[in-house]
Amino acid sequence: MSRVAYVNGQYTPHQDAAVHIEDRGYQFADGVYEVCEIWQNKIVDMPRHMDRLDRSLRELRIGWPMARAALEFVIGEVVRRNKVSNGIVYVQVTRGVSRRDHFFPPDDVAPSIVVTARSSSAAAAENAAEAGINVVTYPENRWPRVDIKTVALLPNVLAKQHAKENGGKEAWYVDDDGNVTEGGSTNAWIVSRDGVLITRPAEDGILRGITRAVVLDLVAREGITFEERAFSLEEARTAREAFVTAASTLVMPVVKIDDTVVGNGHPGMVATRLRQLFHTATDFMAV
Ligand code: PDD
Repeated sequence: MSRVAYVNGQYTPHQDAAVHIEDRGYQFADGVYEVCEIWQNKIVDMPRHMDRLDRSLRELRIGWPMARAALEFVIGEVVRRNKVSNGIVYVQVTRGVSRRDHFFPPDDVAPSIVVTARSSSAAAAENAAEAGINVVTYPENRWPRVDIKTVALLPNVLAKQHAKENGGKEAWYVDDDGNVTEGGSTNAWIVSRDGVLITRPAEDGILRGITRAVVLDLVAREGITFEERAFSLEEARTAREAFVTAASTLVMPVVKIDDTVVGNGHPGMVATRLRQLFHTATDFMAV
């Protein structure tokens, strides 16, 4: 079956889908994005993703490419047309196409919109979660506005590639204070030696992950002992458990940080439970 993408008003074969060479996303990384999970023919947490998209757009003073309800329809339609029952849908909005100039383009330049969807194997994801992943640390070197979900991901690309070349599936950024901020494309969590679940506050240094927010709801619902505070790499190395969260990985146990085995080297109980319960705390849009 051939894949379909939505690009600036048209559903088009994925292999031919293109934006103009003077799209500001291409030239300046002047755009934002969202990644939503598709689970059992449903889009997970669409309202939260649309709220965060709205916030990212506002922070950068980029307009909505269409009404929110229309965009939700297009997202659903791309998922439907690609027959994705498990996977992800990607939504990107940029400041539009205009003659290259650092200043914002004239007001009549419309934002560009791209939506793609792709399938992934739920079984392969479960196998990965049963094994857990290794993370490799990397110095925090990103701009301070990582709360905005921009497509300017070069530092993340370099950190993740470094992790890959050193046997990891994810990079963990460590700031000048020795604290773990987040992953290259995930939020970071530990369960301390004395059994307290810890994640960094979303006020600074991290993206406000939607998966993180769902897990926080679960943690409250299940009465799991929890502290929202920064944690250091040292603390993470001696933690009972570690894991990462993102729409693309859900709750993914971490079993090694650089050369240090976490806990007993197997996915921890808290991470495993949160992963199992995850979809009991999410909102769904049927497609
Ligand atoms: N990444 N932190 C960073 C830097 C991220 O890029 C992401 C998501 C997260 C987790 O956010 P959420 O739970 O809303 O997915 C945290 C997406 C999946 C990506 O870039 O592919």
